[in-house]
Amino acid sequence: MGDMETEKTDGAVEIARGVYWVGAIDWNGRDFHGFTTPGGTTYNSYLVVGEKTALIDTVKAPFAGEMLRRITQIIDPSKLDYIVVNHMELDHAGSLAELKKQTDAKIFITKRGVDILNGYFRGLGSENWDLEVVQTGDELDLGGKTLMFLEATMLHWPDSMETFLKEDRILFSNDGFGQHIATSKRYDFEVGDVIPDAAEYYANILMPFHMPLLRFMGVLDKMGVDPLQIAPSHGIIWKQDLKKILEAYRAWANGEVNEKVLVIYDTMWGSTEIMATEIAEAVRAAGVEVKLLNLRKNTRNHIMKEMLDAAAFAVGSPTLNNGLFPTVGDFLVYLKGLRPQKKKAVAFGSYGWGGGAVKTVEKELKDTGIEVLEPGLQIRYRPYEKELERCRKLGEQLAAVAKEQ
Ligand SMILES: Cc1cc2nc3c(=O)[nH]c(=O)nc-3n(C[C@H](O)[C@H](O)[C@H](O)COP(=O)(O)O)c2cc1C
Ligand SMILES: [Fe+2]
Ligand SMILES: [Fe+2]
Repeated sequence: MGDMETEKTDGAVEIARGVYWVGAIDWNGRDFHGFTTPGGTTYNSYLVVGEKTALIDTVKAPFAGEMLRRITQIIDPSKLDYIVVNHMELDHAGSLAELKKQTDAKIFITKRGVDILNGYFRGLGSENWDLEVVQTGDELDLGGKTLMFLEATMLHWPDSMETFLKEDRILFSNDGFGQHIATSKRYDFEVGDVIPDAAEYYANILMPFHMPLLRFMGVLDKMGVDPLQIAPSHGIIWKQDLKKILEAYRAWANGEVNEKVLVIYDTMWGSTEIMATEIAEAVRAAGVEVKLLNLRKNTRNHIMKEMLDAAAFAVGSPTLNNGLFPTVGDFLVYLKGLRPQKKKAVAFGSYGWGGGAVKTVEKELKDTGIEVLEPGLQIRYRPYEKELERCRKLGEQLAAVAKEQ
């Protein structure tokens, strides 16, 4: 196979001798369980052909036909020997029932995976499927191709696993190292820089699991897993940028941040926006990178991508009926689930009479484990020069915090 070119085999793509991408491209997918995907996504499955054959992961159920057509280019699906289930979430396991109608292939899966498999496929025949429970270090010899299993517990589900093809040194990393992009290309060097897409994926899917991730990276070292290709189940395969993505994952897992501040807000009549703009301008004037993010103009997942390497942020909400503006509430709920590390934050907003939003933002941030710079800034109705001066002070404080990192 030429290094700079993806060899095509009628729809299946050979990524090493006897190893094929047989996944599906979701060109029109625009929402992945709440993750806005303007560029679509892919569900990657891989067929490994030794003396025996193994399929690593399947695709989301509506794409079963597309996957089966690709498999058929290489082998008769009814002759498939094994299926490796790295992860039971339905974007990867959703086609199992369809596939099992055509093959008796034995399934290799983690113990926790069996529980989820029965959770989803009980009644669709899973009680009769031939399963083998595997754990870290177990190997499956296909004859000329050896698969080694690596449990990746909580990356990002209890059952998650990755599989290493020893001879070709390909790590089938499932959701790890994924990106939500749809492309007819299969390799990083064919599409340009995909690290930002991987960052957005990491921030929204893997951010809460930095401890399991660091542990897993230790397991890779211990088991001598030194891949030449990392083939995730979403997006492109890492080859040229393999070291770069591993470095990026290490930095993200360690919570490394840059001199960068976010000002995240919504507004009804523009006052909180005037405050946000003034805060952002003061951060910029202090020589620190700043991003102004209106919650109705930016997706949650875009904001979390920006959050990944931000040292500090401000959250602004007007008071609506004694409390938060709904988009701010939505964002804070989402943020709490993702538990970003090593960040400092401050609350601000405009109110009319009793107020309430700023206190609620502060409480939510504290509950998320974020260090809150007190006190938050509340102003009545529209900010004038005195209030704008307080906004600038707050911006300077955020810039100073970012510079300390
Ligand atoms: C529907 C609605 C409900 C409001 N409820 C409250 C409230 O319960 N308490 C309060 O202090 N202000 C309340 N306000 C006043 C706003 O907080 C005030 O107008 C503020 O300046 C709006 O900031 P903004 O321009 O950033 O939207 C309410 C305003 C609207 C439009
Ligand atoms: Fe998943
Ligand atoms: Fe996935």
